[in-house]
Amino acid sequence: MNEYDTEVAEGLLAHQGYEIVPDALETGPCAREVVLNADVFVMNTCAVREHAEERVYGRLGMLGKYKKANPDLIIGLMGCMVEEHQEKLFQRFPQLDFMVGTRNIKELPALIDRVTKTRQQVASIKRDGLSIEYTDLIKRASRYQAWLPIMTGCNKVCTFCIVPITRGAEVSMPAREVYREAGRLVSEGVKWITLLGQNVNSYSGGDKITGDKMQDTRYKILDAKHKTQAAHDKGQNANQIQSSLLESSILNLESTSLSKVSADNFPQLLEMLCQIEGLDRISFTTSHPQDATEELFQVIARNPKISRRFHLPLQSGSDAVLKRMKRLHTYADYKQKIDRLRALVPDIAVTTDIIAGFSGETEADHESTLRALEEIRYDSAYIFKYSLRAQTPAARLADDVPLEKKERRNAQLLEIQRKISREKYGEWVGRTVEVFAEAVNSRDKKQLVGWTADDKKVVFEGDPSLVGSFMKVQLLDLNRETLIGKLGGGDDATGYC
Ligand code: 5AD
Ligand code: SF4
Repeated sequence: MNEYDTEVAEGLLAHQGYEIVPDALETGPCAREVVLNADVFVMNTCAVREHAEERVYGRLGMLGKYKKANPDLIIGLMGCMVEEHQEKLFQRFPQLDFMVGTRNIKELPALIDRVTKTRQQVASIKRDGLSIEYTDLIKRASRYQAWLPIMTGCNKVCTFCIVPITRGAEVSMPAREVYREAGRLVSEGVKWITLLGQNVNSYSGGDKITGDKMQDTRYKILDAKHKTQAAHDKGQNANQIQSSLLESSILNLESTSLSKVSADNFPQLLEMLCQIEGLDRISFTTSHPQDATEELFQVIARNPKISRRFHLPLQSGSDAVLKRMKRLHTYADYKQKIDRLRALVPDIAVTTDIIAGFSGETEADHESTLRALEEIRYDSAYIFKYSLRAQTPAARLADDVPLEKKERRNAQLLEIQRKISREKYGEWVGRTVEVFAEAVNSRDKKQLVGWTADDKKVVFEGDPSLVGSFMKVQLLDLNRETLIGKLGGGDDATGYC
């Protein structure tokens, strides 16, 4: 979700005439020069783990020093840390000029204007509602792939998690807004959409959004000014843009009745989006096991456009820990769901999140998680050391697993998972599969980077004109978690597209 918010922020600022420079503090020896020449420095932040916050504090300290040399530099924060700490951050960091809440992104340009005029610290942090901004001004990183948020917030109460505090209660985007935005993206050439939400599986069709909130998030048809701008950016003339829009599903949709578009839950929404012609692949993240239903699995099984990768966070293999985490499922419940999904969709890749060293985790609990990894055999897993977050329910529990133990358990989990991932990826070597070519490989321009139907990365030699299309690739080798392939191959293509 943060990446999407960053793309929206960049688009809004670019529209105001700002030149977007990639993360200036990461530009090595030139960092000083870049920051000293910048007008505005905005950081989008995450509050899920303490380590990420520490980095932001470190960067704010560094930016404070740069500001002494460039007093006009405007420093701003957006994202979950703003929601978590709110105006308190202004006292701690006087160099900070503005803060934008997750539900206020569209106010970013206006806030910068205010700081420029008043040179006073300003914040805009709305406490409720939706944090999704659909806008054609978005500056997407890829021409063919796009994020599409469908809901924000979370009504679960996993005790370790700060998201319900930073993103608030669940709110869904109305199904027809989602459908319309997906259609608009396809009309711009997007072939692969990833649906986003803290828990997409509890998507509820957005019936709760009415009146002015609807107005607030209304889809905006490209107006004449934007058409000219888009034509200019793509080196096309306005007539070409106009005719491609006329062909687009958006305008077809406009001429039918939008009120007919409805989806009350996530499986229905998925099935509805699968009907969009020209949209070839749909991924989604992330899901809570309790809401991963038989209906969802059935929809995945019967729709080859839906990605063959399913991310389902387990967090721990121990029922005692799962209970303290208030995950609302046991290991057996979880395993049963994975077994059912695999029975319905045999080639599905399953991935997960694990937390090592949660409050009260014993050696036996840890061994249960190791066993779970071996039993479920995920394609890959994100493994994190538990990081206590103030304001979460688990902040009342002791953070009693010493750091060395957390690190050792984390390393053991990683080691087992790396071995399993190698084996799972290795099973694909020798097969010919359908691959979506996403881009030219920045490290070797003769190569393309692509993705299989279950989101495994593939590198292969190919002409740049193939970017943005699907093709058969024979998988020859494996380098860590990247498959090496060559175009074409046998007839055993396991394509889903
Ligand atoms: N400490 C460590 N990991 C966490 N996650 C969420 N909160 C914490 C925390 N306090 C992990 C969970 C979640 C993923 C997005 O981040 O595994 O699924
Ligand atoms: Fe956090 Fe996910 Fe649990 Fe919601 S379901 S509280 S976002 S871990």
